[in-house]
Amino acid sequence: MYILGIESSCDETAVAVVERGEKNAVICEQVKSQIPLHAKYGGVVPEIASRNHYEVIDYLTAEALKEANLTCDDIDLIALTRGPGLIGSLLVGLSFGKGLALAQGIPLVGVDHIYAHIESAFIDNPGIEYPLLALVVSGGHTTLFYQESKFEAKVLAKTRDDAVGEIMDKIAKFFGLGYPGGPVLDKIYKDGDSKKFQFTRPRMSDGSADFSFSGYKTAVIRHPQSKDIKTGSQVFKDLISSFLHSAVDYLLSKTAAASEELPVKSVIVSGGVSRNTLLRKKFRDYFSGHDIKLYLPSPRHCTDNAAMVAWLGYEKYIKLPENNYADFYLNAYSRATFREKSKHK
Ligand code: KG4
Ligand code: ZN
Repeated sequence: MYILGIESSCDETAVAVVERGEKNAVICEQVKSQIPLHAKYGGVVPEIASRNHYEVIDYLTAEALKEANLTCDDIDLIALTRGPGLIGSLLVGLSFGKGLALAQGIPLVGVDHIYAHIESAFIDNPGIEYPLLALVVSGGHTTLFYQESKFEAKVLAKTRDDAVGEIMDKIAKFFGLGYPGGPVLDKIYKDGDSKKFQFTRPRMSDGSADFSFSGYKTAVIRHPQSKDIKTGSQVFKDLISSFLHSAVDYLLSKTAAASEELPVKSVIVSGGVSRNTLLRKKFRDYFSGHDIKLYLPSPRHCTDNAAMVAWLGYEKYIKLPENNYADFYLNAYSRATFREKSKHK
């Protein structure tokens, strides 16, 4: 069957057509990134984001169908992101998807963006075995999940303050390096000495396993200020390399510790930051030759995309009792819904 996926939770309008069932493939993907629109502000401006989603979503959908050589009549299911994300942006995708579903009589399912990031690893790796650990690292989230099956997840650790991608974006913004910061810092990494600066690994005073990243930001920003270090200098590159080295080690050590404590067969790392060169290398090195298998989505499916939404939408659809699809009261939500143990909405 053909599934049309729609993603509009943040600063990327994305539409994809995937085929699932006998064949499992991404047929086409259309993405309109809003990065140039937000870059001058050093971060996403919600009002600009929702307006731009609204301007391009119908065009992107028409282009996707054209590229797939299909019409609306061929689409068997529409899957869209309900949340978490920017509420105005989510509502554009949601309203558009609902309207299309209603007008064409196509079943509709809403999926959670964070679980869609986990699902992105399954696009190229259908045989990922449970139980698994899923580390979702993005601009909005840094959460380590334990999953015994696809539709249930236990949160083992989440960030108490900023997400790791958000820290990278804020550091880059502070030094005028552009937006988004993750890819900019990724490029700097190889030019610096990652052992030059030491960072204290964050620990929760209440003994919780949660992550914290705001201390990294303070340390990276304060150091050049107090020592009058310029951004193009070797010392600055060493500082950025050392920060990335330390932050990735922190993510890896907590994931590795959980993988020793729990009976997991697989580890997934997904979300925009899983595109990071150092992160991919360090996780691969650690899990190579290990009983536990590591799965990283292909780079284009690490950052926000609609293929992961369509992929998870199908999984949800085949689990639903017949005709129990989303109705037109389906709503968006801005905040993550998971608590210590959660089921998909
Ligand atoms: O998953 P995503 O597209 O959106 C959210 O759901 O948040 O992630 C965006 C985040 C941004 O913070 C961006 O700086 C980061 O992913 N990112 C990277 C890289 N590419 C994107 N971080 C580190 N290294 C990269 N190569
Ligand atoms: Zn995302």
